Amino acid sequence: MKLIVCDSYDEMSKKAAEIVSDVINENPSAILGLATGSTPEGMYKELVEAYKDGKLDFSKVSTVNLDEYVGIDPSNPQSYQSFMNENLFDRVNINKENTHLPKEIGSLEESVKAYDKLLAEIGQRDLQLLGIGPNGHIAFNEPDEKLNMHTSIIDLKDETIEANSRFFDSKDDVPKQAMSMGMADIFNSKTLLVLASGKNKHKAVEKFMHTDKIETLFPMSFINLHPNCYLIVDKDAYQG
Ligand code: PGA
Repeated sequence: MKLIVCDSYDEMSKKAAEIVSDVINENPSAILGLATGSTPEGMYKELVEAYKDGKLDFSKVSTVNLDEYVGIDPSNPQSYQSFMNENLFDRVNINKENTHLPKEIGSLEESVKAYDKLLAEIGQRDLQLLGIGPNGHIAFNEPDEKLNMHTSIIDLKDETIEANSRFFDSKDDVPKQAMSMGMADIFNSKTLLVLASGKNKHKAVEKFMHTDKIETLFPMSFINLHPNCYLIVDKDAYQG
């Protein structure tokens, strides 16, 4: 694992955007696994700037996202689909037909199967972007005795609902479930790019730095198993 400690959120975002840009410039048809949340917003801004400056071309890029809330329409401003449209897809020359998020089609069971089928068809990604939760979750794979290998419906932990309530009018409005890629799906990528920013991630980052155990109760620990993983953190996440 390559640890990169940055002085600031901006530096972390620039560094992450550089790694993503290198992947796209090396392979214009790159398949990217993308993530939502406040952590990657700065990185997406950098990518949009690079596109506007003529340094990046998304026309052949494909994307798959880690997760989406259950019970929220894609057109809802709080959906992860809306987040991706606002932060990237509407701002660059990506073909929206090549962008994918988990979505509800028929029953939840059918929706899960459909996303697994899509992931199997898409195959290995060139890069998978990841944030971490304050409790060490990755995507919505929450700390638990067992973790899912493939796409699943996850009951969100109270701490995750609490952390995500900042995007909603009230905690009661936060969806209680999400559809999320599983651990095997996340790891099916040539490169993992994990970002952590801010003091509220310090506990998880510190725990990660001081353990040599892989624990399902601490999903972030699994990133140690990936042969080509970058962990980019800012000073607040690193030092607290
Ligand atoms: P955040 O979320 O980037 O909004 O902090 C990351 C996560 O919970 O995985």
